[in-house]
Amino acid sequence: MDIRVEKGRSEKYPSELLLLFSFESPEPLEGPTRSVDVEWKGFLSTIIHQGDFKGELFQCRLIHTQGALPADRVALAGLGKKAEFDLEKWRGAVSKAGQFIRDSGIKRFAFQIERLDDFSEEELTEAFVTGLLLGLYQFNEFKTLEREKIKAIEELVLLGETDKKIQSIGEGSRKGKVISEAVCMARNLVNGPSNQITPTLLAEKARQIARDHSMEIQALEVSEAEAMGMGAFSAVARGSQEPGKFIVLEYNKGKGLDTIALVGKGITFDSGGISIKPSEGMERMKDDMSGAAAVLGTMQAAARLELPLHLVCIIPATENLPSGKAYKPGDVLKTLSGQTVEVISTDAEGRLVLCDGLTYSLRYQPKAIFDIATLTGACVIALGDHVIGIMGNDDGLLKKIEEASRTGEKVWRLPLWDEYFDYLKSDTADFRNVGTRAAGTIIGGIFLSKFVEKTPWVHLDIAGPASIEKERPYIPRGGTGVGVRLMIQLLRDWKS
Ligand code: BES
Ligand code: MN
Ligand code: ZN
Repeated sequence: MDIRVEKGRSEKYPSELLLLFSFESPEPLEGPTRSVDVEWKGFLSTIIHQGDFKGELFQCRLIHTQGALPADRVALAGLGKKAEFDLEKWRGAVSKAGQFIRDSGIKRFAFQIERLDDFSEEELTEAFVTGLLLGLYQFNEFKTLEREKIKAIEELVLLGETDKKIQSIGEGSRKGKVISEAVCMARNLVNGPSNQITPTLLAEKARQIARDHSMEIQALEVSEAEAMGMGAFSAVARGSQEPGKFIVLEYNKGKGLDTIALVGKGITFDSGGISIKPSEGMERMKDDMSGAAAVLGTMQAAARLELPLHLVCIIPATENLPSGKAYKPGDVLKTLSGQTVEVISTDAEGRLVLCDGLTYSLRYQPKAIFDIATLTGACVIALGDHVIGIMGNDDGLLKKIEEASRTGEKVWRLPLWDEYFDYLKSDTADFRNVGTRAAGTIIGGIFLSKFVEKTPWVHLDIAGPASIEKERPYIPRGGTGVGVRLMIQLLRDWKS
C-alpha cells in the first residue's frame, strides 16, 4: 500500500472512501468527524442519535454520501469509551477499520489526522500506520488457488490541515511504516515453512539487510564455529543435513556509539533431536526461529530509523534433528565459554545454541545484551500466549523493557534466584542442560545467565506470543513478529 500525505480537510477531499472515527455516545462529535457532520447537515449525528451507530470499539459502518460530500463513501468506525482510550485501542480500531475497508473492496481511502485526547499528530499517525499495516498483513505466499480473490488496499492519503501538521504526519507515517515493515518481515520468516526458511535463507536475509543498510555481515559455517570453540552450537547442528550458520550482523560499527547485543534463537525446525518430540503439533516447531526473526526485524528498523547505537545481532541458526550423527543425551559439550554441559535432553537445544551466541557477544563488550528465544514450553504454561517472560541480572535493564512494553507487547518478570541453580548441577560436567519440569522457564534463564558474566542482560522467552492461534485486533493468526516493536521502542528510548 502506498501512503501519501497531503494538505486538506476531510469534508473537502474527494476520495473513494473517507475514514472517520467516533467515541461511544459522543457529546458532541469531535475533530474531522464533527466538520463532516456540519457539512452533511447533521447526518452523522442523526445516525448516532437513532442508535444506528453506537461508536463501540471496532464497530464499523459503510455509508454512501450520494453527493453530499466530495468523498463517495464514508466509513464510520468506533473508538469505544473516551475515558478508556489509549494508543493500543487506537491501533486496534484502525486495524479493524482497515480490514473492513479492504473487505468492502475499496482500493483507496483518505483520513485526516487531528489531535485526539492527549496524543500528538505524530504519535497518532505512527500508531495509525502501525495498526493499519499490521492488521492488514496476510501470508499468501503459498496460496495458488483463488489468488484473484485476495483483496488489498492500494493507497492511503493522510490529510493534514497545516504545513506544520503535515510535517508531523509525515514523520509519524514514515516511522510507523518502517517499524511495521520490519514486523511483517519477521512474520513472513516465522510463517514460512522450514523447507524454505533454512539457516542458509536466514543468512541470505541478514546479508540482504546488511547490503541495504551498509552493515557488516558474517555468516560462519558450522565447521568454523566448531573450530572457534562453539561446541554447544555445533553439537546441535550436527544432526542435520541442512547446513547451519552462525550469523553476526553489525550496525554502526566503529563509530564510538553504545554497543548493544541482540541474540536471537534461530532453530529453523525443532524436532527435539534424539529426545524427539511427539508428532502431534510438531509442525508448529517451524516457528522456533522467531527470536532470530525478531532480531533481524529490529536491525532492519533500527537502521532505517538511523538509531545512534552500535548494534551487534547474533543468530545461531540450525535445525534440531535426529540422525546417526546427531548429538545424544549424556554427551558432554564444551561451550565457547570453556564451561562444560552434560546433555540430558537434546530438546533443550535453544539454550545450547544461545549460550555460545551469548559468549560470542561478550567480545564486543556490550553495554547490554538481550536474547530473544522461543525457549520453553513451560513459559506457555506459565504465561500463555499474550505475554513474554523476561528474566535478567539487571533491574534497570528489566525496567527499560517494561517501559518499552507500551507498544502493547506485554512482558512479565520471572525471578532468577540462586536456589534454582541447584537443579542444573551435573555429576559429570559443569552443568546439565535441563533441570526439573517445575520452574522450566526460570531454569532456562538460569542456564543462560551463566554465559553473560557481569554484563547487564535480559532474556526474553517468547515461546507463547511468537505465534498465535486466535487473531487479535491488529495481529492476524500465525507468526506475530513479537519483540520487534518492543526492542525498537527500547532502543529509541535508550540513553547512554
Ligand atoms: N522450542 C522449544 C520450546 C517451545 C515449546 C516453544 C512449545 C514453543 C512451544 C524448546 O526447544 C524445547 O523443546 N524446550 C523444552 C525444554 C525442556 C526439554 C527442558 C520444553 O519446553 O519442553
Ligand atoms: Mn527443543
Ligand atoms: Zn526449540
